[in-house]
Amino acid sequence: MSEELLRRIRLGGERPKHVAVIMDGNGRWAAARGLPRHLGHREGMKAVREAVEAAVEAEIEVLTLYAFSTENWKRPVTEVTALMGLLQLYARKERAELRRKGVEVHVLGDLARVDGVTRAAIDGIVEETRGGTALRLNLMISYGGREELVRAARLLAERVRAGQLTPDAIDESTLSGALFTQGLPNPDLLIRTSGEYRISNFMLWQLAYTEMHITDVLWPDFGREHFFEALLDYQTRDRRFGRVTAG
Ligand code: IPE
Ligand code: IPE
Ligand code: MG
Repeated sequence: MSEELLRRIRLGGERPKHVAVIMDGNGRWAAARGLPRHLGHREGMKAVREAVEAAVEAEIEVLTLYAFSTENWKRPVTEVTALMGLLQLYARKERAELRRKGVEVHVLGDLARVDGVTRAAIDGIVEETRGGTALRLNLMISYGGREELVRAARLLAERVRAGQLTPDAIDESTLSGALFTQGLPNPDLLIRTSGEYRISNFMLWQLAYTEMHITDVLWPDFGREHFFEALLDYQTRDRRFGRVTAG
């Protein structure tokens, strides 16, 4: 099944270079089974593994996963603690396998808000996977699109104050270069699971011309076949970027 989908993707024309995912629906997955929310998040970790493997198999260059938003800090402390614990578990359990696959992990977001134990686990996975060339995996943690833009404004203002930059010289590429995603192509495809039609403060600048694939599947149920189906959907799109014809 997934081999057949991969074959169709290979024949289907241009693939996205950068795929971003809003991994949503863990809580509803658990509630539907009468389980506590944290078990939904734990099951969601398996879906992360599937998505990474699928991205490697489909030869995607960059995969960006929205794992924890700035607004998610407002959840009950027990849930936040469970999520940070799972992050530690993921970092420890997966790093050797990610390295073996050639996945280079980057963690983007306001990590100053993250506790020391979780930070250490994050540093471990980043260090161990450095230099991987098969896939760049961005884990967005304590990340918010508005906060990223505020941070960029501050960084540029500091450079102006230091006399390294003039206001007139600030253009789209200067601003892009002050974001967490500096140097990366913008996402070509955004996948959101669990049927919500919103951005939830994700990559506000970078998503300007991204194609969206929204599926009702809840994140813990989202497997490699779903990922491949999203790529096939992308390949049917006519990306015009405001022009009359594609291209
Ligand atoms: C996504 O699942 C994971 C995070 C936001 C951390 P949710 O926890 O948002 O699940 P739902 O939306 O309540 O089902
Ligand atoms: C978005 O999901 C954040 C992540 C997937 C990490 P949420 O569940 O937090 O978003 P809303 O509350 O439905 O907008
Ligand atoms: Mg949600």
